[in-house]
Amino acid sequence: MRIVLLGAPGSGKGTQAQRLINRYQVPQISTGDLLRAAVAAGTPLGLHAKATMDAGKLVDDGTMLGIIRERLGEPDCANGFILDGFPRTIPQADALTVLLEELGCPLEAVILMAVDSEQLFRRLTGRRTCKACGAVFNVYTAPPSVPPPCGGRCDSPDLFQRPDDSEATIGKRLEVYEGQTRPLVEYYSARGLLREVDAEGDIDVVTARLEAALA
Ligand code: AP5
Repeated sequence: MRIVLLGAPGSGKGTQAQRLINRYQVPQISTGDLLRAAVAAGTPLGLHAKATMDAGKLVDDGTMLGIIRERLGEPDCANGFILDGFPRTIPQADALTVLLEELGCPLEAVILMAVDSEQLFRRLTGRRTCKACGAVFNVYTAPPSVPPPCGGRCDSPDLFQRPDDSEATIGKRLEVYEGQTRPLVEYYSARGLLREVDAEGDIDVVTARLEAALA
């Protein structure tokens, strides 16, 4: 399976990718996670990307292509991958097409995860992540007071809010999505790869819709 999860910030790409990797036994490649790991490690890439990410803007295409080229060359991608957060611009999509042609493994589908903008805002302001294991929660849909199960990995989750989930930055990210990433809907539709999935409602129900779209 070689697919892209395409959708606005907060549409559930990361949440659903985590479920699909178990079902299909292929790795999730989240460019956001790769960048956040670089920021946390203080690498040159992290230092380069941090201010851009905190401002809700996109890291430059050249940097992102370098990251994705290296990641797709790793052995665990031999049987496929789920791209989460890449591509995000037309030049990224063009470069991905060329790269996958070189590797002899073209994309099979691009899943558009459709969520209303009011719901996106609520999901992003409510998102919390466990510092220890990275599990993602939501103060509205999985309130920390419940207490959160932390995916079964931590006894006592230590939750934080992503710096780019502040209200001001969310607005910028949604604007950037509309301007730079939404054109990919037409791009992949024209190539016969796009499948739209209603990504609102219960998380399990959304997973079932994704599985049906991929069947
Ligand atoms: P990235 O980390 O990719 O952020 P994003 O695309 O903005 O997506 P999010 O991670 O915010 O949301 P998601 O769709 O994964 O939703 P989630 O499942 O967490 O990128 C961050 C930054 O890195 C970018 O702004 C940019 O600067 C840079 N970057 C990354 N890739 C780049 C690229 N290719 N080019 C240039 N720059 C790049 O869910 C959100 C919340 O909703 C969670 O709390 C979850 O529990 C909840 N939730 C999920 N599904 C449901 C549901 N069905 N019902 C109720 N709640 C739900």
